[in-house]
Amino acid sequence: MIKIKQLSKIFETDDQSVQAVDDINLTIESGEIFGVIGYSGAGKSTFIRLINRLEEPTNGMVIVDGQEITNLNKDDLRVTRQEMGMVFQHFNLLWSRTVSENIAFPLEIAGISKPERKKRVSELIELVGLTGKEDAYPSQLSGGQKQRVGIARALANQPKVLLCDEATSALDPETTDAILSLLVDINEKLGITIILITHEMHVIQKICHNVAVMEDGRVIEQGTVLDVFSNPQQPVTKKFVEQVMGKPDDEITVESLIQTISSGQILKLQFIGETASHALISKVAKTFDVEVNILQGNIKQTQAGPYGSLYIQIIGDDKVMKQAIDFIRSTTVKVEVIHHD
Ligand SMILES: Nc1ncnc2c1ncn2[C@@H]1O[C@H](COP(=O)(O)OP(=O)(O)OP(=O)(O)O)[C@@H](O)[C@H]1O
Ligand SMILES: [Mg+2]
Repeated sequence: MIKIKQLSKIFETDDQSVQAVDDINLTIESGEIFGVIGYSGAGKSTFIRLINRLEEPTNGMVIVDGQEITNLNKDDLRVTRQEMGMVFQHFNLLWSRTVSENIAFPLEIAGISKPERKKRVSELIELVGLTGKEDAYPSQLSGGQKQRVGIARALANQPKVLLCDEATSALDPETTDAILSLLVDINEKLGITIILITHEMHVIQKICHNVAVMEDGRVIEQGTVLDVFSNPQQPVTKKFVEQVMGKPDDEITVESLIQTISSGQILKLQFIGETASHALISKVAKTFDVEVNILQGNIKQTQAGPYGSLYIQIIGDDKVMKQAIDFIRSTTVKVEVIHHD
């Protein structure tokens, strides 16, 4: 578990002081993927760099598994840092070294013997999906492959925590998805805690369990991804949720749906975790003598299940339709009848 208490960082420059991180308090559970989202300048990078003390805090504490990082002397810090791998937006690879040599670098620094290094490097190459690229140089790799090297290198010393600062921001959407899947895979296989920083809400939606939203150095909102997505409180959070969900549906959408149907009812189903939409729809259609048509939907998959809304048309005998609706109500799905012919 990582505890962050009253963490602050003020940068003093010649003519001004900047409060980059302002009194952050957070608990991050072992084995979770914790996302931090915020716009440029919110203090995300400073925050993640305070965790492994690449930046020294002005105030506050970082406690990792009971050990106070902020109190360690230089030698102890060097050892403890090996337990925290870091992945960067622009990969930060050594350009004159091959893939294998890049991954071996932190092992050399840690004083691991050559045979042991070789064994570990080949395990890592396989884990991140770079088999066949061992002797390539970074300049011969795609962006996604470079980041795989960055991730393998960060995992070399078997860290407990992986810190990712915009690890997918330099990648195209497809490559981003592949790298995000790799991070989930690593989280599940190795049980490693991942702290991930991003300005893209779909990254949070796809792989995080919990999320904190930063603005002006402060955490302004936090919670499980499903809670924050389904009930965002702060204006900044609402904007981030709109990035993936679009604007909340307005009258016009509903009006136009009504015009497309000539019979039956229109239901709005809201999914927050647990029940999968396709499974529910097919169960309703199979169990009750009703016709179900999907009119419009916007459902996203999160680590804790689906989230979003689905508009369906349901046609049938009044009594049977009511039974079907009662059945949907008995699940975790929220139902609203928005039109009845
Ligand atoms: N070394 C530094 N010296 C002075 N000010 C700094 C330093 N590093 C960061 N800052 C300032 O601290 C604030 C937070 O910066 P930070 O890099 O942590 O933001 P960020 O959320 O990571 O932004 P981005 O999304 O652009 O990477 C900014 O106002 C920045 O100018
Ligand atoms: Mg940054």
